[in-house]
Amino acid sequence: MKSILVTGGAGFIGSNFVRYMLNKYKDYRIIVLDALTYAGNRENLADLEGDPSYFFYEGDIRDELVVDNLMSNVDAVVNFAAETHVDRSIHEAGMFIETDIKGAFVLLEAAKKYGVKRFLHISTDEVYGSIEDGSFKEGDLLEPNSPYSASKAGGDLLVRSYLKTFGVPVLITRSSNNYGPYQYPEKLIPLFITNAIDNQQLPLYGDGKNVRDWIYVDDNCSGIDAVLHKGETGKIYNIGAGNERENIFITHTILEYLHKPKSLIKPVKDRPGHDRRYSIDTNEIRALGWKPKHNLEDGLKMTIDWYVKNENWWRKIKEKQAEYQRFYEAQYKDR
Ligand code: NAD
Ligand code: TYD
Repeated sequence: MKSILVTGGAGFIGSNFVRYMLNKYKDYRIIVLDALTYAGNRENLADLEGDPSYFFYEGDIRDELVVDNLMSNVDAVVNFAAETHVDRSIHEAGMFIETDIKGAFVLLEAAKKYGVKRFLHISTDEVYGSIEDGSFKEGDLLEPNSPYSASKAGGDLLVRSYLKTFGVPVLITRSSNNYGPYQYPEKLIPLFITNAIDNQQLPLYGDGKNVRDWIYVDDNCSGIDAVLHKGETGKIYNIGAGNERENIFITHTILEYLHKPKSLIKPVKDRPGHDRRYSIDTNEIRALGWKPKHNLEDGLKMTIDWYVKNENWWRKIKEKQAEYQRFYEAQYKDR
């Protein structure tokens, strides 16, 4: 495997993955296709500019011509491209269906046409829905509860059908919540770190006791690498590090590390359809010899340190996001 098309490679996990792969495999060629939506950012890959093994194309995975052109010349595809934020999906679900389902369809069609050797689709543990006790296994029922997770589940089912019907050699990973450098500051951890740095309030939904299983982004990247090279065609692999914590615990840890007061926490109305707990069984990926390297305590410290050192990166983004928020709230008021 020498040439890999990475879609959504300018986003959070995609950019970390591209960096991870280029560091590890000196003879690989990585071609990034990214539409640079609000969440995509070429600065996430700025240190790779000029590397002869890295190519960047700005384009949409729903664009058949662009996808056809790029797919004709690669051995494998890793599809990260998606709309990814649950809260946005609650307000405007349309683009989630467009990118997470239609986009997957366009990629699968081209993979079928060119006989791509590996089609690795990046999905999420959110497709299983919420679980009170125990952990979801890969074969469990899909019961997504948000337009985001429902769109991702739709993509997963389409991927499965291209294996069964056309023999496209697909694989799927479903990871738990990632955190680390370059995560867009609308998700819990980067939002709370950057708000706390600025002494802004931290809007904690509901009772703050919802549980997420946190994985440091590099550990997800090594898991994706393991599945890409050693995974069994047609299989699904959960990727999680076994760090289940309530949101309030994550919030307190961030505030303590930054020496900020708990009074910054602002309990707010709960998210509609808010999944209570995510938990996944990871025996399948561990059987490939994979295990996470980072514990939550160290991973969180590294992440907070990164945001403290990289204010330039997130301040520009937060300013744009504030504009979006103001525009959005103004529209809402008129309804
Ligand atoms: P992100 O929102 O940071 O990045 C998404 C990227 O996809 C952006 O660069 C964006 O520009 C690009 N993109 C969006 N629509 C596109 C389109 N139509 N054509 C081409 N590019 C497009 O997302 P992320 O957090 O890096 O997540 C990457 C993948 O991992 C997603 O598929 C997501 O569902 C999955 N995932 C994320 C997490 C998490 O905690 N972040 C957990 C499990 C799974
Ligand atoms: P998020 O980072 O949006 O990821 P997901 O919903 O996909 O798991 O949210 C993680 C958890 O944090 C989730 O339980 C919702 C909660 N949350 C807040 O309490 N406040 C916030 O401002 C955000 C963005 C999330």
